[in-house]
Amino acid sequence: MKKCIAVLAGDGIGPEIMREGRKILDAIAKSFDHVFEYREALVGGSAYDQHGHPLPDETKEICNSADAIYFGAVGGPKWEGLPADLTPERGALLPLRSIYGLFANLRPAVIFSPLANAASLKADRLEGGLDIMIVRELTGGIYFGKSRVQSLTLKEGALQGAYAADYMIYSVPEIERITKVACEAAMKRKKNLTSVDKANVLESSKLWRETVIGYVNKNYPEITLTHMYVDNAAMQVATNPKQFDVIVTGNMFGDILSDLASAITGSIGMLPSASLSETGFGLYEPIHGSAPDIAGEGKANPLAQILSGAMMLKYSFGLNKESDIIEQAIMKVLEGGYRTVDLACDETPGDRVLSTSEMGDKVLECVQKLV
Ligand SMILES: NC(=O)c1ccc[n+]([C@@H]2O[C@H](COP(=O)([O-])OP(=O)(O)OC[C@H]3O[C@@H](n4cnc5c(N)ncnc54)[C@H](O)[C@@H]3O)[C@@H](O)[C@H]2O)c1
Repeated sequence: MKKCIAVLAGDGIGPEIMREGRKILDAIAKSFDHVFEYREALVGGSAYDQHGHPLPDETKEICNSADAIYFGAVGGPKWEGLPADLTPERGALLPLRSIYGLFANLRPAVIFSPLANAASLKADRLEGGLDIMIVRELTGGIYFGKSRVQSLTLKEGALQGAYAADYMIYSVPEIERITKVACEAAMKRKKNLTSVDKANVLESSKLWRETVIGYVNKNYPEITLTHMYVDNAAMQVATNPKQFDVIVTGNMFGDILSDLASAITGSIGMLPSASLSETGFGLYEPIHGSAPDIAGEGKANPLAQILSGAMMLKYSFGLNKESDIIEQAIMKVLEGGYRTVDLACDETPGDRVLSTSEMGDKVLECVQKLV
């Protein structure tokens, strides 16, 4: 198979972890006779420094010509004072999501069993590991609804002065297409789907709930569907996460719940994500940021980047076996007791604490043994 991959490493630790991600993809390509052609492009702060914009035209052209986008991380203190539209996240990530219609954000919250004692929850609540798939709607809801900031008298004699408003809008087709993605994920897992909303208060959530019920009943009767208000869902994710299989929710609730789920898994350096369009075009990135505090020190954990590459193989290229091999290799490395600094604990011997590139090499070694 021949595929063209746009490589947008970004800022901070982005280029360091991207090197390791590519190392593993190269090993897979070599072993399975695939050709991955990489087209590198600047994005985020580094793109702003060189081209005056965090998402320059050259970068968009490269993404347009690619089969998938492999993304590192963007941002850092150097670019924080820029006008909003030129900041790395607002100026590059949000436009990429809109341009390519990346409406479905898949964020697995997985604890590899050797890391159960590094998680923030007590080990007995995570026995056998944890494996939740959060499916977040990514191009609608309150982050994309109209905003208003105005100054006016709201009511005669009542509240006066400046006000700001953000509109949370969802339409039936938007809800149905994200529900379909979540159902497809659930069908490959335990067939349990939890839809999260705030239907006791918000009109957009009432429509969300009605639509999800109608869609699942009609198209996926095998799936067990439950509903949870977002405040309860947050409590349940934090205290009893093993009850979940697949969660589907809107943009803002998904943003918060997926970060919460990542926090309980122990290290932010372990979690990948996929953002997909209706045609299966995708952007694959670790959920963490550019970690400027450790950039250049060889301390970054490259596993979320490597796992994002595995998701790209599975979701955009249909290479399930190759993707599984990468996950198995990571499991073997962790079972061997190897850790990056963020995963190490008191019991980890010094000789098993690896740098970013040493961790990439260990995974590579295991991939080569498994193919
Ligand atoms: N998608 C993205 O590109 C994205 C996402 C979130 C934040 N950001 C940006 O990243 C910059 C830093 O943000 P932040 O500090 O809030 O979040 P962050 O995720 O970059 O870092 C939070 C903490 O986690 C650690 N960390 C993150 N990734 C790690 C890894 N792979 N290995 C080991 N430790 C890791 C960092 O050292 C830091 O202590 C900001 O400019 C922010 O806007 C970008």
